[in-house]
Amino acid sequence: MTSLLEEIITVYPLLSPPTLTTPASNRVCNALALLQCVASHPETRTPFLNAQIPLFLYPFLNTNSKQRSFEYLRLTSLGVIGALVKNDTPEVIQFLLTTEIIPLCLKIMEASSELSKTVAIFIVQKILVDDAGLAYICQTFDRFDAVSNVLKLMIEQLVSNPTVRLLRHVIRCYLRMADNPDARIALKDRLPQNLKDDTFSEILREDVTTRSCLAQLLSLIQQ
Ligand code: TRP
Repeated sequence: MTSLLEEIITVYPLLSPPTLTTPASNRVCNALALLQCVASHPETRTPFLNAQIPLFLYPFLNTNSKQRSFEYLRLTSLGVIGALVKNDTPEVIQFLLTTEIIPLCLKIMEASSELSKTVAIFIVQKILVDDAGLAYICQTFDRFDAVSNVLKLMIEQLVSNPTVRLLRHVIRCYLRMADNPDARIALKDRLPQNLKDDTFSEILREDVTTRSCLAQLLSLIQQ
């Protein structure tokens, strides 16, 4: 672990101004791939969290350079967090809620590569699915507002650049937010028009589950 952390810390000076080269990015991403194994394994996950190691990846998530080396670094870092949340362990969500992971994911959902957006929204969705996570996000209007604004922006992006995979996550996030009574009321005026008309009916034609999620969402919002 010391060696892996060393690999990570060595890269920090290359983040700002952005001077990370492809070989340096590949090298740290290899270290991150090993960390992902530690994050995934049930015997090492808890010590990994207790040592707060995910925090070492946040500077990587906080970059905004569009260079490939940075996109790859963000995607691989998200992969480590994605591996943590995959198994719906409340302990993991509890940990993440003590950190600033949500604003970092929101920023990536707004403006990173499609693949990074998918992993970032997967993480947010996993947080929302957890009862404590939903309560946390709906606890203040500002938090709710930040999440719902980014979901809305993603819908706008999906209108011009549709992908079922991202759309599926966005709809599921909205539907889960609607489980919170306050959020449900606030969503009445905030659900994008494109979800209410037939903008996406063509790309959802094959996806019965997502179509039914969307129908459920619209009916909840109308009540
Ligand atoms: N510390 C911020 C807060 O507690 C974290 C945050 C920013 C956040 N934007 C968010 C949390 C959106 C949830 C949703 O509000």
